[in-house]
Amino acid sequence: MSEKMKFSGKVVLITGASSGIGAATAIHFSKLGADLVLTGRNKENLLLVADQCVGPKPFLIQTDITKETGVKDIIYNTIDHFGKLDILINNAGIIESGGIEETSLEQYDRIFTVNVRSMYQLTMLAVPHIIKTQGNIVNVSSVTGMRAFPNLLSYCMSKAAVNQFTECVALDLASKGVRVNAVNPGVIVTQLHKRGGMTEEQYQEFLNSCKKSHALGRPGTVDEVAKAITFIASDDATFMTGNIVPVDGGKHSMCPR
Ligand SMILES: NC(=O)c1ccc[n+]([C@@H]2O[C@H](COP(=O)([O-])OP(=O)(O)OC[C@H]3O[C@@H](n4cnc5c(N)ncnc54)[C@H](OP(=O)(O)O)[C@@H]3O)[C@@H](O)[C@H]2O)c1
Repeated sequence: MSEKMKFSGKVVLITGASSGIGAATAIHFSKLGADLVLTGRNKENLLLVADQCVGPKPFLIQTDITKETGVKDIIYNTIDHFGKLDILINNAGIIESGGIEETSLEQYDRIFTVNVRSMYQLTMLAVPHIIKTQGNIVNVSSVTGMRAFPNLLSYCMSKAAVNQFTECVALDLASKGVRVNAVNPGVIVTQLHKRGGMTEEQYQEFLNSCKKSHALGRPGTVDEVAKAITFIASDDATFMTGNIVPVDGGKHSMCPR
């Protein structure tokens, strides 16, 4: 099989495929020959992403992953449509700022429901199918799961949970032949932060500050994360499991002085 078609015959399910990192990951997997299941809430955006994919038309599932029935629908419809699942990319996520003095239980619940609970439920339901195909799982975590940042309490905690989830599930499934890893992006240019409450002006300032906060002196692109994800999900990474992989221009190594 040509290097270009390394995911030919593989069914790849991506959450949060309607925007940002998930959308770029979908397009990249399509170029590598995957059969895609793309999920998100925004149907219009899912259709736009599907249009940019090459090869067979992706199967689209419009659903809110905070709803337990929505998550069940994702697995049910995937198996109904393709008969199997090889690779799960747990990417959907939200961010909100606030430290211990400004946060609320509502914020904690919102962030943990999307970033952790839905990932837990979807993975639980996907695992029997992924064991059958000897596939693998990649979770999209964050540098904030590896390092502490002020004014970002719930989000940092949720990504730390994603890291631990990744390592525990990797150990649970290693003897079954299923690999589980995470990528941990630094600041990547997407809609995430503005959807999380930053104004355009604050966002531009935030991106500008990446010159100092990232060793490589810039924020990353969605393609740079997508390429790391497809590498880890591929048979070029068969000895990788339980890995928490920074894709962050060196941000995790930095310590202000
Ligand atoms: N951008 C960064 O700097 C950065 C850095 C580190 C980690 N990350 C992580 O990367 C992942 C992707 O983020 P992004 O930057 O690509 O952000 P984004 O452009 O805002 O995309 C987020 C995606 O998650 C989906 N989503 C959110 N809530 C959902 C829900 N309740 N039900 C179903 N889908 C939902 C969105 O779907 P709809 O739009 O259809 O609602 C969208 O497709 C997240 O886990 C984020 O924490 C991002």
